[in-house]
Amino acid sequence: MTSFPKGFIWGTATAAHQVEGGNTASDFWPLEMAPNSIFAEPSGDACDHYHLYDRDIALLQQLGFGAYRFSIEWARIQPEEKFFSQAALDHYRRVLGTCLTHGIIPMVTFHHFTSPLWFTRDGGWEDKSAVDRFARYCERAGKALGDLIAYVCTINEANLPLMFTRYTELARPWRRSRRISEVARSIGADPERFAPFLFGNANLAAPNLIAAHKKGAVAIKATGCTAPVGITLATQDFHAEPGGEAMAKQLDHHINGQFFEAMRGDDFVGVQTYSRTRVGARGPLPAAEGAETTQMGYEFYPEGLEATIRNAAKVSGCPIIVTENGIGTEDDARRIAYTERALKGVLRCIADGIDVRGYIHWSMMDNYEWREGYRPRFGLIEVDRTTQQRKPKPSAYWLGEVAKHNAL
Ligand code: BGC
Repeated sequence: MTSFPKGFIWGTATAAHQVEGGNTASDFWPLEMAPNSIFAEPSGDACDHYHLYDRDIALLQQLGFGAYRFSIEWARIQPEEKFFSQAALDHYRRVLGTCLTHGIIPMVTFHHFTSPLWFTRDGGWEDKSAVDRFARYCERAGKALGDLIAYVCTINEANLPLMFTRYTELARPWRRSRRISEVARSIGADPERFAPFLFGNANLAAPNLIAAHKKGAVAIKATGCTAPVGITLATQDFHAEPGGEAMAKQLDHHINGQFFEAMRGDDFVGVQTYSRTRVGARGPLPAAEGAETTQMGYEFYPEGLEATIRNAAKVSGCPIIVTENGIGTEDDARRIAYTERALKGVLRCIADGIDVRGYIHWSMMDNYEWREGYRPRFGLIEVDRTTQQRKPKPSAYWLGEVAKHNAL
């Protein structure tokens, strides 16, 4: 079989902070600007997608894609706890309208790593108040935008902080990072309460993230928004090496299973997989010696996607959408090879009766890869960040053709 089911969704993804530029009210901005920053470089103007979205969405249509997954930025919409910006909501209405004009299905993520600074300096996701705060934002944004949205992803990779924590914990108990605390002090925040999504205590945050997803989904639906609502997860394909079986099982439940279980009954689960993780008796291991690795240091292992789709579908019982999959590489031919192999895995899942509804590639364009800065190249489209010119890579044309034909 080389064809995908009728109506299969083909798209590409971005996240606001990684492409828009100038996200100054967010918690990541001071973290990136700090003199002793843990980030390779600041995000700055990024790809200026905030102003160039029209051009970018038109290009997606030309290439043959039918969907665009992007995030709306909470820090722009609610830059202060007491203030929701109508101008920011209007901006995102224009972005959604542009998608619809170009025949592109908009899939909207409400939280993709960044939060408003006021939220993070007051306990962020570690504090129980996060649940109501997030639901309130969902309600406001849902009311303003819900009629134009086709799919909602509440929180991106809600299990990712736990993955970082779990890995660190294997060596030593979780501690607030000294450099993150320094940034907190420099902006007059209490370092004990300053908890950015990626760098807080995930053991405290995880239950709040799950509860916030649930309450946020209810709040969005209550606005009359009829779009399917789901969460996206950094789904991990754990491979036990000899002696690592028990540890791999434990990690699988901690990072994947407990989240899949919590999502039972949801409209869909978003699967996001980039590689696999080998596991020894004491925890995760680096890629094997001699294995091909990507710019992120991950093993080149496209089959990880098939494994995580199977796992997510089985445990959650939900329809699956691949909301991210891709590779950081300078060699675009390897991107095509990677994606083709990953898609063959998706086809095998579908042939086995698994309800996979779409494939969204990360990323539409080269962008800000968080702590790594602009070095890793995940984009189907190259960006010259001085002129903000876009240039589709061969992989963009290749995947666009796959999308047009709905077949490999
Ligand atoms: C995140 C993206 C990130 C990508 C590549 C995912 O974990 O959702 O924001 O750029 O992986 O590392």
